Amino acid sequence: MRIVVASSEAVPFSKTGGLADVASALPKALSQVGHDVSIIVPHYPQVHAKHTDLPDIEDIGVSLRVPVGQKIVEARVLKSHLPGTKVTVYLIDQPGYFDRPGIYVENDQDYRDNCERFVFFSRSVIETIERLHLAPDIIHANDWQTGLIPALVSIEMRHIAGYEQQASVFTIHNMAFQGRFWHWDMNLTRLDWKYFNWQQMEFFGHLNLLKTGITFADMITTVSPTYAREIQTPEFSYGLHGSLFSRRSDIVGILNGVDTEIWNPATDPYLVKTYTADTVEAGKTACKAALQKRLGLPVRPDVPLFGGVSRMTGQKGFSLIGQCADVLMDLDVQLVFLGTGDPRYEALMSQLAADHPDKVSTTIGYSEELSHQIEAGCDVFLMPSEFEPCGLNQMYSLIYGTVPIVRAVGGLADSVIDASDANRANGTANGFSFNDFRSDALFWNICRARSLFHDKTAWRKIQRQGMQQDWSWTRSAGEYVRIYERAIARQHLESECAGDEK
Ligand code: ADP
Ligand code: GLC
Repeated sequence: MRIVVASSEAVPFSKTGGLADVASALPKALSQVGHDVSIIVPHYPQVHAKHTDLPDIEDIGVSLRVPVGQKIVEARVLKSHLPGTKVTVYLIDQPGYFDRPGIYVENDQDYRDNCERFVFFSRSVIETIERLHLAPDIIHANDWQTGLIPALVSIEMRHIAGYEQQASVFTIHNMAFQGRFWHWDMNLTRLDWKYFNWQQMEFFGHLNLLKTGITFADMITTVSPTYAREIQTPEFSYGLHGSLFSRRSDIVGILNGVDTEIWNPATDPYLVKTYTADTVEAGKTACKAALQKRLGLPVRPDVPLFGGVSRMTGQKGFSLIGQCADVLMDLDVQLVFLGTGDPRYEALMSQLAADHPDKVSTTIGYSEELSHQIEAGCDVFLMPSEFEPCGLNQMYSLIYGTVPIVRAVGGLADSVIDASDANRANGTANGFSFNDFRSDALFWNICRARSLFHDKTAWRKIQRQGMQQDWSWTRSAGEYVRIYERAIARQHLESECAGDEK
């Protein structure tokens, strides 16, 4: 099958969160089982400059003229590949839109022309496919930044000879980000205003690009089975449950996997000592001591070390940590955090470290290296998310023998099995999980983890369970192929029906 994946970010070229991990790990897994996969992403020269070990990027001499609103915007197509794979990466080079310090945000402010930037990008994905004759069986768009693509496929592309049966799939990674813009931005899309209605692209008077993707894609996926159910309810849908409910038979939740070439304690180059499930005790002891030393915490093997790596947003449950910080600091524990985001949470976590330098270390910023060292060196990983479409860090933690504490939502509910007596007895327990978004629930689970940590036999069993489960992309990539096949079959059927009517 020929597949084109469109994403606004992809590892190792650009990343703000899990979307970037998925946008390269899924294509890699699909390519490994014989599919022909290309990725199309924007070219962000200033962001790329911060990443080391990027593969070569070549100019293939293809220029595009992309209509955006009343303008024609010129761009170039650059070409690269995902390291160690057959996956081709096309990068859309348009310095006016993408040669900036940030991907979406600068100085805590969204770029004011984000709608224009990603309408342009979505159109340039279609132009690239046509110019390079990529002839994909599937165009797979992700999140609001590429939400216009399924509409362009449905409204425009299928009128072009050779693309009559073009199928599209749209994946929702996070309902909280919808790409809502004022109604006049509809002009940027160059689509007819007839589509600006409550059943298609309009949402309470605004243009909504996530809704657009949901409306026009042949099939819709989201990143865990539980989140697929949650987003059809008002609590998790940010207003779009109606749109999702009307497409409920076409929505499938597929749990993300992990790129085990990048996240593997047996081979991780960032660790002072690599380890497997059989050598976890010695490996983690060394990694924990190195982490404590690096972050200026007392080097103590006996104290449970809790960690977190994430975007600092409300989604990730920092308010709960703030609310129970006082009682937490009365315990003999250590905490390490790495993240960046909302200044409120950055200040909260920095203050906690300043007040308790022998217990807490907060690093504001982004660091691949430190994120791997936290995954390996901590005993427990905290993910008390308010909502979590999938979450990757709890899976990284499970692979690294770092027992996660999670709130049972979205992909966290689908990957972490609570260490209840029954689950420990039947051997399925791999972490701690709670239901209520309340700080006392989080605190209670921190206490549970702390006391079990001192029971070495019980702890090893929980660690080993997580480490031995299969978190790779193999299973999920197969599920995506089945969704692609359904989307293709639907298009074939629809074009046959359209042919019969003529
Ligand atoms: P989300 O996509 O909602 O941010 P995920 O758990 O799916 O959450 O993915 C987050 C990804 O971003 C993980 O790979 C995580 O390690 C990484 N990450 C987040 N913040 C940082 C940071 N400050 N430094 C390094 N990696 C980070
Ligand atoms: C989003 C979600 C996260 C998910 C990631 C990749 O950013 O917040 O839960 O793991 O996308 O799908």
